[in-house]
Amino acid sequence: MAVPSRVVTNHDLAAKMETSHEWIVERTGIEERHWVEPGEGGAELGARAAKEAIARAGLTAQDIDLIIYATLSPDFNFPGTGVFVQRLLGIKEIPCIDIRQQCTGFIYGLSIADAYIRIGSYKHVLLIGSEVHSTGLDVSTAGRDVTVLFGDGAGAVVLGRATDDQHLLLSTHIHADGSEAEILWTEYPASTRHPRMSVEAMDERRHYPKMEGKRVFKHAVTRMPQAIMEGMVANGLKLEDIDMMIPHQANLRINQMVAKMIGMPEHKTHNNIQKYGNTTAASIPICMHEAIELGKIKPGDLVCLVAFGAGLTWGSAFLRY
Ligand code: UT7
Repeated sequence: MAVPSRVVTNHDLAAKMETSHEWIVERTGIEERHWVEPGEGGAELGARAAKEAIARAGLTAQDIDLIIYATLSPDFNFPGTGVFVQRLLGIKEIPCIDIRQQCTGFIYGLSIADAYIRIGSYKHVLLIGSEVHSTGLDVSTAGRDVTVLFGDGAGAVVLGRATDDQHLLLSTHIHADGSEAEILWTEYPASTRHPRMSVEAMDERRHYPKMEGKRVFKHAVTRMPQAIMEGMVANGLKLEDIDMMIPHQANLRINQMVAKMIGMPEHKTHNNIQKYGNTTAASIPICMHEAIELGKIKPGDLVCLVAFGAGLTWGSAFLRY
């Protein structure tokens, strides 16, 4: 994982907008997040996380034959950010796929990597979730409901063909429902608008992310338990079989509610939104990395990953680490 060095506390935000440490902690659990310094980008964070993942896999960058880059905050409009990571890693001519499934991006990425590895197209897939939210947030009081939630960061994994049944990806289940896409979105710049960006749109703050928080919350606490149950049924698992659940980090209250709804004891889940905020596609690999470092996930453990986010999109993955 990689996060920018600059830590932004709730008190720092309270100095810029009408909010408070108490409100943010009570509603979300978030205490601080990391935001980039000018010039620092998602590709750079992604490449830092990727280098660590490749080294821990006992490989070199030259062993990677596909990059999947999940983000909702690409460094530029085009090309996709994956090619910039490829360049930073010094790898040439391997394919780079950018995917746009927001908070569920990492689970979607796992399912794509899994399919390619199963059919034998690629041997070592580098999957990165990386986000720079801070450069696109409204730091005035008008944007406070969304701005206090998000942090910058990246997480990366290397996937290869399993050599035994003790360390493998068991399943991925991914879903989407576009019928309420606009309850969590950033409208501008948009190729359906002429021009794509205008002074009027900026005056109306339509280039900042907008969210109907309560509706998104309700969908999250419905869809995440469904995705977990779907994976458990597909793998013939009981709740007791799961050693650790790593949920997407959007709101500590959501994750506590999901754990309670499915009956997962607290010591079998890990959350770190307190330190990083919501890093969308990066949140699951960052949280998983920390759980591994803390010894909460050990080799062979059965791990459940679950996410919900804009789109709306949701899904789960089950693996033996
Ligand atoms: O990762 C993608 C998925 N995202 C999510 O899953 C997020 C889901 N939603 C949520 O986590 C919650 O809805 C929020 C944390 C975003 C908001 O919590 P809430 O309990 O739903 O609050 P609210 O939006 O209903 O706002 C309650 C009050 C409002 O004031 P009034 O109308 O009651 O006077 C807001 O204006 O809190 C106010 N408020 C704030 N006050 C201080 C909203 N944002 C802030 C703020 N600081 N940052």
